[in-house]
Amino acid sequence: MITLQNQETETQEKFLSAINNRFSPRAFSPEELDENIVRNIFEAAGFAPSSYNEQPWRYRLVYRGLDEHTRLLATLAPSNREWAQNAPLLTIGYFKKTFTLTGEPNYYNMYDLGQSAAYLSLQAQEFNIYTHQMGGFNRRKVNEEFSIGDEFEAAVVIAMGKIDEALIGTVSPVAVAARRKRKSLEEILLKK
Ligand SMILES: Cc1cc2nc3c(=O)[nH]c(=O)nc-3n(C[C@H](O)[C@H](O)[C@H](O)COP(=O)(O)O)c2cc1C
Repeated sequence: MITLQNQETETQEKFLSAINNRFSPRAFSPEELDENIVRNIFEAAGFAPSSYNEQPWRYRLVYRGLDEHTRLLATLAPSNREWAQNAPLLTIGYFKKTFTLTGEPNYYNMYDLGQSAAYLSLQAQEFNIYTHQMGGFNRRKVNEEFSIGDEFEAAVVIAMGKIDEALIGTVSPVAVAARRKRKSLEEILLKK
């Protein structure tokens, strides 16, 4: 039996350190990321479970300073562009629409991409690299300008990088607490 506890009294130390430490920052440092670490993070993304092991996720890496980075930034909602522009790496996450074996629609494609993104977020956190996923972008534009084929659709853009400590100091403690606010176990563990 799971004992329901008052979340207010729970400490953060009870989870995996990557879960404890992860949050979606807006204070990215443009410092470049080590290529081997980036590889490792995306290898971890590939180890997520998926329906029929289809692995419907694909990732396109768009590095800061390149022309395509400027084009991708332009597709983001202005409120996202403001902070995401500092991150050294933006990644477009796509899902494959159909099962490769049967050609049937894959109902679990975005679900599986989400699991993979969670894996990469936590693996990145192990290196103190933070991720901030975004749905706030012009999906039509990204699918046009960054198409990887008709079989695939872009679902998310993920900003990734180290934190700029000087910037994070400007976030008010109230805003930080609100950010971490979560539904209680009572709310998410249904009795019926
Ligand atoms: C699919 C998805 C889309 C999101 N879109 C945005 C976004 O467009 N802009 C933004 O600032 N945060 C976005 N977020 C981040 C969430 O707001 C954030 O994960 C949530 O508030 C919990 O905060 P935390 O990640 O810091 O724990 C998105 C997260 C996910 C998973």
